[in-house]
Amino acid sequence: MKTILGIGAGYVGGPTMAMIAKKCPEYKVVVVDINPDRIKAWQSENLPIYEPGLKEVVQETLNKNLFFSTNLSEHIAQADIIFVSVNTPTKSFGKGAGKAADLQYWEKTAREIVRSSSSDKIIVEKSTVPVRTAHAMEYILNANSKGIVFDVLSNPEFLAEGTAIQDLEKPDRVLIGGQETARGQKAIAALKELYMHWVPKEKILTTNVWSSELSKLAANAFLAQRISSINSLTPFCETTGANIHEVSKAIGMDSRVGSKFLCPSVGFGGSCFKKDILNLVYLCNHYGLPEVANYWEQVVLMNEYQRKRFVQKMLDAMFNTVAGKKIAIFGFAFKANTGDTRESSAIYICQELAEEHAKVVISDPKALDNARLDLKDIESSLVFEIDPYKAAQGAHAIAILTEWDCYRTLDYKKIYESMEKPAFIFDGRNILDHNALFEIGFSVYPLGKTALVH
Ligand SMILES: NC(=O)c1ccc[n+]([C@@H]2O[C@H](COP(=O)([O-])OP(=O)(O)OC[C@H]3O[C@@H](n4cnc5c(N)ncnc54)[C@H](O)[C@@H]3O)[C@@H](O)[C@H]2O)c1
Repeated sequence: MKTILGIGAGYVGGPTMAMIAKKCPEYKVVVVDINPDRIKAWQSENLPIYEPGLKEVVQETLNKNLFFSTNLSEHIAQADIIFVSVNTPTKSFGKGAGKAADLQYWEKTAREIVRSSSSDKIIVEKSTVPVRTAHAMEYILNANSKGIVFDVLSNPEFLAEGTAIQDLEKPDRVLIGGQETARGQKAIAALKELYMHWVPKEKILTTNVWSSELSKLAANAFLAQRISSINSLTPFCETTGANIHEVSKAIGMDSRVGSKFLCPSVGFGGSCFKKDILNLVYLCNHYGLPEVANYWEQVVLMNEYQRKRFVQKMLDAMFNTVAGKKIAIFGFAFKANTGDTRESSAIYICQELAEEHAKVVISDPKALDNARLDLKDIESSLVFEIDPYKAAQGAHAIAILTEWDCYRTLDYKKIYESMEKPAFIFDGRNILDHNALFEIGFSVYPLGKTALVH
């Protein structure tokens, strides 16, 4: 039985390797991580991440052909193909701090691979990395004195949290970048063979390494750009009487534009968009392209503006003060169907409200543990309450920050009756029936639509 190893058991490594185990039963798939708690959680009933459908895939394969371990060296030695999905956060120190990718986890992994290997291997770069990282890694890996040859492929992951299992099962495309040499092509063919267990051949693109690495950064930049573009029109709509949904539909029906990712929101979050755009900005500056860097940086700046604007709107509506007022936050995860809160707009909004001395009560069906960690510095001014009805009791306002389905169907009449008056709703995702809420008695502040104020 051939062995495939995944290094890094996070949001990408865990689900991706579990899907490979499910689709390729003749391979033994092992996932290793330096974090023993994460590994223990993957082996338990309580997986370390929430993702619809993930539990079923793990249950089907765990201890059959899917194994989790902290023993990196043993499993590196046994593996033929190694997928590296370790984190590549924004660098917080030294040159490039705040923009460049921090590749220390990647480089440590590469050195561990060299130390523990005694045969040739294919190394698959799954993490999102700066363009030309595979080249640097190949250099480090092949500088070994054991005569072992490593082929590094770029195979960026395009899954979206919340729909990861669906995305892995039926990807829009799988991208594999490799060297244009005979060895490189052979490595590409081996990885392609693996994906062809379940992905149609025509959806597997092969390119050179640099195109593959750049495509991942660019894809995230394009997606985030759509969000910032539609969000940039929301204040315009609010002051002119245009309706952002009508505008978004009219734009999206143009087949050249397409309708997806044109929903107004309180700003994008997640661990990737901001970090990958800033990385692109850093690379553009590095290659002497400041105009291109400024163009992409604006996508992040617009996102920050949208978050600030949301808090300002709350203050303006609530007579310029929220001090001492209870505010219920519905949703803390950066999007629905995940417990992930990394870079969630809710973090910024709750911090700002706490700074204004509001009594913030945070509710979320899956993200409260992460919310507690994110906001541990201001814990004393917060309450965490999973039940939205209790969270809203006695509140002056509700702010919807995540588009969880459960918030669409609450009994808002009952909620209204339990709140202080005047009662405000700030819908940061535009998921509620604003006219119905207004009828109940709420003053309603949607995004990109005229507010309904009593
Ligand atoms: N989260 C997403 O939606 C997503 C989507 C596509 C691509 N990516 C990219 O995939 C990569 C991983 O993202 P993630 O969200 O899974 O991160 P994560 O932080 O959830 O997981 C990374 C894991 O790697 C482990 N790790 C770090 N150094 C290690 C080492 N030397 N040896 C073994 N394990 C080590 C960490 O302990 C952690 O569990 C990033 O580059 C990210 O940009 C993420």
